[in-house]
Amino acid sequence: MNIPHRAGLENFPSYRQGKTPADADGLKAFKLSSNENPYPPLPSVVQAVTRALSSINLYPEMAAEELTDAIASRWAVTPENIALGAGSVEVASQIIHAATNPGDLVMFAWRSFEAYPLLVTAAGATPQPIPLAPDGGHDLAAMAAAVTPKTRVIFVCNPNNPTGNVLSAAAVESFIQAVPSNVVVVLDEAYVHFNYAEDTAVGIDMFRKYPNVAVLHTFSKAYGLAGLRLGYAIAAPELVTALRKVAVPFGVTALAQQAGLASLQAEDELAQRIETLVSERGRVHAALLAAGLPVLPSEANFLWLESGERTGALADLFEQNALSIRAFPGEGIRISVGDPEANDRILAVARQATALLAPLL
Ligand SMILES: Cc1ncc(COP(=O)(O)O)c(C=O)c1O
Repeated sequence: MNIPHRAGLENFPSYRQGKTPADADGLKAFKLSSNENPYPPLPSVVQAVTRALSSINLYPEMAAEELTDAIASRWAVTPENIALGAGSVEVASQIIHAATNPGDLVMFAWRSFEAYPLLVTAAGATPQPIPLAPDGGHDLAAMAAAVTPKTRVIFVCNPNNPTGNVLSAAAVESFIQAVPSNVVVVLDEAYVHFNYAEDTAVGIDMFRKYPNVAVLHTFSKAYGLAGLRLGYAIAAPELVTALRKVAVPFGVTALAQQAGLASLQAEDELAQRIETLVSERGRVHAALLAAGLPVLPSEANFLWLESGERTGALADLFEQNALSIRAFPGEGIRISVGDPEANDRILAVARQATALLAPLL
C-alpha cells in the first residue's frame, strides 16, 4: 500500500529489544539481555496495582499529583522540578523534543544507551556521538571540545550502559562548567541504585548547583517496574514546563502511578534486593576475571565483556547454554546480573569459554 511516510524513514534503524531466550538441552532459560530486575514485584506493589485495576476504564490523572509530590519530597525539590514519562526513555525523548530544532545537535558518548541516536533522529535533530575513552568511560574532554553552537543537549550516562563505567564528581563538574549554560546536560542515572563508587558524580547534587542539568531516573531497574513504564526527570521548572507540553498525553498510566508510589514506600525492602544484586555482581565479576575473560569493573546491574573479535563465538556459547545476552558484534557482550541460579550458569559458560577460546584469550 502506498501510504505517506517521512522521507528517509526506510533507512531509520529500529530499537533492538533484548532477546527472549529459548530453553536448551533441558536447561532453564534466563533473559540477561535487557538489564531487568530478576525479582518479581513486591507484594505491596502488586496490591497497589491490583487496586488500581478496577478503574482502568478511566484515563489516568495526567498531572499525577500524588506521585509527583512523592518524588519531589524524596529528593527535597518542588513538584515543579519533576517531569514524568512512560519510562525514562520517554522523558529523554521529551527533552530532545523540547530543546531542539531540526538540525540541532544532541551529543552523547558512544557506545552508550542504544536509544539515544534513535530518539535524536526521530525528533529531527542530529546525533553527535563521541567515542568512549579506552577504559569504557566517557571522554569528557573530547565531548567538551566538540560542543558547537548547534549542540543543544548532551546525554551523560552514569554508570554507562553498556560498559558499566562511572564518572567522578570532579570530572563531571568540570565538564558542566566547560559547557555553555544554555546547553541541557542530562545526567542519565538509570542504574544509580547499583552505583556504590565513592567518588561518583551524583546527579541531584549537580542539579542543585547547575540549573542546566537535568537528572533522569527510572523505576524500571532497581524498582523492578520495567513492564509498567515509569521514569522521571528532575530539572529546572522552565524545562519541566516544556517537557510536560511535549509529553505523550496520558502516557503514565494509573497502574504505573500507583506502583511508583508503593515502590517509594518500600525503599527499605528494595534496598535488600539491590544489596543482593550488587553482591552477585561482585561474585560474577571476580569469577569471570579468574576465568581469564576480559570483563570491566561495573557499577550497574550488568557486566561488560570486551570480547572484540571473539564476540560472535562467545555469544553463541551463551545462547547454547540458554542464556540470552546482548552481543555487539566486534565490540563486546553485555550480561545482566540475574538471580544466583542464572549467575551460576554465566560462570559455567565462562569455564567452557576459557577452554574453547583459550587460543584467542
Ligand atoms: C542508560 C539508560 N537510560 C534509560 C533507560 C530507559 O529505561 P526506561 O525507559 O525503562 O525507564 C535505559 C534502559 O535500558 C538505560 O539503559
